Amino acid sequence: MQPLRFENKTLLVLDQTRLPNNIAYLKITRHTELIDAINKLCIRGAPAIGIAAGYGIALGARHIKKGNMREFLEELEILTKNITSTRPTAYNLFRVASTMRAVANRAANPVQAKNLLMQEAVKIHNDQCELDLTLSRNGSALVEDNASILTHCNTGRLATGGYGTALGVIAYAHRQNKKIKVIATETRPLLQGARLTALELREAGIPFHIITDLMAGHLMQRDRINMVITGADRIAANGDTANKIGTYSLAILARQHNIPFYIAAPSSTFDCETKTGKDIVIEERSPEEVTHLMGTPITTPQAQAFNPAFDITPSSLITSFITEKGIIPPGEVCRLNNI
Ligand code: MRU
Repeated sequence: MQPLRFENKTLLVLDQTRLPNNIAYLKITRHTELIDAINKLCIRGAPAIGIAAGYGIALGARHIKKGNMREFLEELEILTKNITSTRPTAYNLFRVASTMRAVANRAANPVQAKNLLMQEAVKIHNDQCELDLTLSRNGSALVEDNASILTHCNTGRLATGGYGTALGVIAYAHRQNKKIKVIATETRPLLQGARLTALELREAGIPFHIITDLMAGHLMQRDRINMVITGADRIAANGDTANKIGTYSLAILARQHNIPFYIAAPSSTFDCETKTGKDIVIEERSPEEVTHLMGTPITTPQAQAFNPAFDITPSSLITSFITEKGIIPPGEVCRLNNI
């Protein structure tokens, strides 16, 4: 089950809003269709959004009619900004946008730019698979035999287009026969854990239990969790990490119970230009995602709701970052070219 496939000049996007019950692919040929798919979370997870953005920019470029390079680049910039404005926290989106800009700027004319952009989009996709596998192997070294691992949100193939980050580490450890067990939070409000992580764990044959988000503290207090591994949407230069709402609470609970708390992320999620977590924009999504559950109202129609999609875990609560470049302590990210 691939979240993204590029075939016959069309981007096929697995509609993750319909999982686990339906497997349906959207056929995307224009960047405007991709923007809609990202906004609705048909494609989600920072690395997968980045890959999708690469294809979206390349597809959008193909429809630019201007023969003059300056006008071509101006139109490309407008459509690129429209794509990056979809999910402000996911750093991979911005990193891919700047890579694609640089590629277009190197071209001699729009025809060459269109070809180079498409080649780059494919390369970004292939590179992600490599990064994921290496970071998963690195992270697996931290997993002990018979470990019970808590994870949050969805960080597998569906979220990265590759092997996964936190879930990649878990899958790698399982492949090494470490006899692990997974506790996956359901991840309110949109249930990425219950809907997507459960599906991926089942497909990989990894034993797991789903819990509601607020059960984590109890399980930690009863010694039923040995380590926590989550992914990240953006990591600031000081190691403060934006990830799915609820990650911060899990990190505090882990600290209280002396449980190691790891963030697994490729170097493409590290934003060394942003100094601390305070400078990271947190995406606010529609209140309806909180007042409704899978489309059904669960509160009084008069209820207002907050819906921050992410929170910031301070670097002081993070044991280490698991990356393709190795295991990096929080104080050392963005230093000595290690990211
Ligand atoms: O809102 P989502 O589903 O895009 O949020 C996804 C997450 O928060 C993931 O944990 C994160 O992107 C890391 S994915 C490898």
